[in-house]
Amino acid sequence: MTVLIENPADLGSQAEEQKHVEETKELVLDGGFSVPKSVSNDGFVAPEINSYGHTFRDYNVGGRQKIVEEFYRTQHINQTYDFVKRMREEYSKLNRMEMSIWECCELLNEVVDDSDPDLDEPQIQHLLQSAEAIRKDYPNEDWLHLTALIHDLGKVLLLPQLGGLPQWAVVGDIFPLGCAFDEANIHHKYFKENPDFNNPAYNTKNGIYTEGCGLDNVMISWGHDDYMYLVAKENGTTLPSAGLFIIRYHSFYPLHKEGAYMHLLNDQDKEDLKWLKIFNKYDLYSKSKVLIDVEKVKPYYLSLIEKYFPAKLKW
Ligand SMILES: [Fe+2]
Ligand SMILES: [Fe+2]
Repeated sequence: MTVLIENPADLGSQAEEQKHVEETKELVLDGGFSVPKSVSNDGFVAPEINSYGHTFRDYNVGGRQKIVEEFYRTQHINQTYDFVKRMREEYSKLNRMEMSIWECCELLNEVVDDSDPDLDEPQIQHLLQSAEAIRKDYPNEDWLHLTALIHDLGKVLLLPQLGGLPQWAVVGDIFPLGCAFDEANIHHKYFKENPDFNNPAYNTKNGIYTEGCGLDNVMISWGHDDYMYLVAKENGTTLPSAGLFIIRYHSFYPLHKEGAYMHLLNDQDKEDLKWLKIFNKYDLYSKSKVLIDVEKVKPYYLSLIEKYFPAKLKW
């Protein structure tokens, strides 16, 4: 998840922040993000602090709590079923740019994603850190390395060339429209101001869907996940189903962290969800001070891009 922070330099001293974190622990929990401490069952060792020296997904640091909450208020009010439908139609045209995957990685470096509480490095470092960490632990799954590299490329939606969308239409946790908003969603209370909240067609558990219909049939809030999925799919990627699933649902925290909305999944989704849960650990924990030498690893990733994507893609 990511929300705009005006000035990351305003973070104050670490000691002060630590005090603040302790004082506002309840608010951290209110945010819905408890922070897993260390080792997972598959041996992945998660660091306990990020590059700022804080625990991951800790939005209270430096007064971020308020900014994050305001972000979610705006997001929850504006992401309606009709809005998502319009955005999907509009961006399906893929008529804005032509560029390669690597060119997009470089373009994304222009995006200041100061919204992310864990991220102080250029975006390309987050992409490569995730990819290199997962490559180390899953050396044979080259599709997973590439998936990690490209999972956030959809954030280029923030740039004027790609429509210059507001933060609430690009980043943040995502959720289904067309059925009731599950309470597992962060800052659930703000959905009450969403026009869909009182629509009887949309406000039951299944809403317009049937149990097990599959996420592919579910309208999910618009953002960088769905956009990058669309770009990859429409440009004919040969990435496996699990790779596309990771790209499309990596911000779907109510599902992969809280286990909400499971009744909408089909069997294939349940299989792919296992990979998403693995991926998520690397997405969260690879944001660190250890910088990757871009030029050194570039040939490897270019070879993967060539294997799974055309040379130029429509965006
Ligand atoms: Fe993301
Ligand atoms: Fe990410």
